[in-house]
Amino acid sequence: MLKQQTESHLRRSLLFMPGDSMRKIKKAIQLPADSIIMDLEDGVAVSQKDVARQTVVEALETLDFGSRERLVRINAVDTPWATEDLVATMAGRPDGYVLPKIESADQVRFVSRALAQLERDQELPEGTIRLLAVIETARGIVNLREIAQADDRLQGLMFGAEDLASDIGAQRTREGWEVFYARSAVVTVAAAFNMQAIDMVFVDLADTDGLAAECRFARQLGYSGKMAIHPRQVPVINEAFSPSLEEVERAAQLLQAFEERQKEGAGVFEWEGKMVDMPIVRAAQRILAQAKAAGMV
Ligand code: COA
Ligand code: MG
Repeated sequence: MLKQQTESHLRRSLLFMPGDSMRKIKKAIQLPADSIIMDLEDGVAVSQKDVARQTVVEALETLDFGSRERLVRINAVDTPWATEDLVATMAGRPDGYVLPKIESADQVRFVSRALAQLERDQELPEGTIRLLAVIETARGIVNLREIAQADDRLQGLMFGAEDLASDIGAQRTREGWEVFYARSAVVTVAAAFNMQAIDMVFVDLADTDGLAAECRFARQLGYSGKMAIHPRQVPVINEAFSPSLEEVERAAQLLQAFEERQKEGAGVFEWEGKMVDMPIVRAAQRILAQAKAAGMV
């Protein structure tokens, strides 16, 4: 039942729900979310941590998640809960873990070592379980480069705007300029180390137009997906992070024009009134790769 780790694992929408809510987990596996994140951290009351672990294991053992990635968000590694979160939920063999409030490479390695032991105990190949790190503190931003290189299990960086704002003393606004430096840093460092970047939560549950606009901007910045907290957000996010048919067609046409000009010996050329050179060609190739990952071509 173990899924092969793939470099291009599609993560457009990553839907959170409290780990103690079997009702929401059951709802989530009917939705087109690429990843399901069963939460043990901030979405779960302190008194419910144990119930949540048990519920998550039961869900992992009994429910059919289809092709959806099965992730568990554990508590921060400097809390008394984190190790037990891993030990308890590894019984259900999730695909990976989401690590909140990561501030150093050592914290990632600490989890990776614990997982290596648990993999041995369960006779799983070492390195099977993937990790995604949430960057949501000032220290996390300062140490991004080391964090990104911490461990081979790490497949992506997720940007947490709400916790970051509270950590640096910023006031959250709709426009988000107060977190813009951090949001750009996360996507840039993720790209530098060949990882996915996942954008922040949009907390206004009713405003799907606002969500769509925030997704568009995130995609323009280079983010490949966004966290979701309500079923309504999932299709909006999927659409925003999939190339449109028009984009795919244009990319294919541009690449065809590029190949023809290459044969003629031209490295840079004009196409529909605009200059085309290698960065533009690579952007078109990227759109086709995204379309392929999303099953569009
Ligand atoms: N995942 C799966 N199902 C969800 C869901 C989620 N994140 N959020 C809501 N639903 C379900 C509800 O259970 C409800 O279904 P039901 O009527 O069959 O029970 C339906 O979708 C509509 O939900 P709605 O009534 O609009 O919202 P709510 O008041 O039940 O819940 C929240 C609102 C914010 C509590 C809920 O969306 C939630 O728990 N979100 C995730 C929060 C979280 O995990 N935060 C931590 C990470 S930032
Ligand atoms: Mg948080």
